Amino acid sequence: MKILVTGSAGFIGFFTVQALLKQGHQVIGIDNLNDYYDVNLKQARLEFLERFCVENGYDEEYRFLKVNIADREAMAEFFKQYEFDRVIHLAAQAGVRYSIENPNAYVDSNVVGFVNVLEGCRQQKTAHLVYASSSSVYGMNTKIPFSTDDRVDFPISLYAATKKSNELMAHTYSHLYNIPTTGLRFFTVYGPWGRPDMAYFSFTKKILNGETIDVFNHGQMERDFTYIDDIVEGVVRVMDYVPQSQQTEITSAQAPYKIYNIGNNQPITLERFINAIESATDKKAVRNNLPMQPGDVPRTYADVSDLMEDVGFKPSTEIEEGIQKFVDWYRIQNQ
Ligand SMILES: NC(=O)c1ccc[n+]([C@@H]2O[C@H](COP(=O)([O-])OP(=O)(O)OC[C@H]3O[C@@H](n4cnc5c(N)ncnc54)[C@H](O)[C@@H]3O)[C@@H](O)[C@H]2O)c1
Repeated sequence: MKILVTGSAGFIGFFTVQALLKQGHQVIGIDNLNDYYDVNLKQARLEFLERFCVENGYDEEYRFLKVNIADREAMAEFFKQYEFDRVIHLAAQAGVRYSIENPNAYVDSNVVGFVNVLEGCRQQKTAHLVYASSSSVYGMNTKIPFSTDDRVDFPISLYAATKKSNELMAHTYSHLYNIPTTGLRFFTVYGPWGRPDMAYFSFTKKILNGETIDVFNHGQMERDFTYIDDIVEGVVRVMDYVPQSQQTEITSAQAPYKIYNIGNNQPITLERFINAIESATDKKAVRNNLPMQPGDVPRTYADVSDLMEDVGFKPSTEIEEGIQKFVDWYRIQNQ
């Protein structure tokens, strides 16, 4: 199949492209290589992908184009030039805290950009759009584990609000134009080649350098940390599971629309997470305990029964194993 992966220079996109090529698909990756975090890391991922294609004979199957999904004309032109059997939409302005500093980046990439992707899919009658949502849509929900049947009407960051609005807009396009869409609520993804703005990355850097780490909510936060390979396996399996038109219990609207959680289904405390980094680095962390930050949620915990039922898979990598792989990669990069 011909597949579009948006955000292909990003952490999850980079691994998704490799998995799709290994399965024999043709892939076009797009990304605007913005400088939200170190552009060298995005470039390094792109260079790795090029080498990966040459070494494995995929050079004819993969192409990268620099495109800003928020640019309406450029996106309309792009969708005129290339046709896709599937669209995997991962490009977004990520990060909860940055949405307090720079809300416009979220509106541009996550709202305008998302509509441009939907419009491209409408034009082409794409057979399945799979897009990244986020566990942050659950906000400060207290019922656990978080289920896709729960209400998610109370976002506590603009980032979460844009992800929830993606789900709403996807439903509209599924209903009006019969475009099958699947939203994936990812739960804190980590691993080699990961994002420098995330805590595990900066903790590792600081612990290795003997610097103090800021531990919010005194280490009592819980996260359903999900290893990158598990996320990619979920994305690729879901891509082949095209939702059929259906009604939910509470609406008479018909739409080929689905939402899944992809999380480890096993929340762990920040404390255990830091211990995992300490043992992988063989160094003790110097902690600065602090209160909770605005926009942060105390706990995330995924109910993945739907995912298991439909695609026969649930993430299972233990945090100690995943963190060890991250730290090994980090050490090689920073030798
Ligand atoms: N990593 C996580 O823990 C996590 C958790 C929940 C949801 N998500 C979602 O998963 C998706 C992928 O996340 P990631 O961790 O790989 O993040 P990432 O920032 O590494 O990747 C996103 C990529 O999208 C690109 N991008 C952003 N705006 C763009 C634009 N306007 N035009 C073109 N490209 C643009 C960026 O340059 C980046 O390379 C995002 O939608 C994110 O919101 C990630």
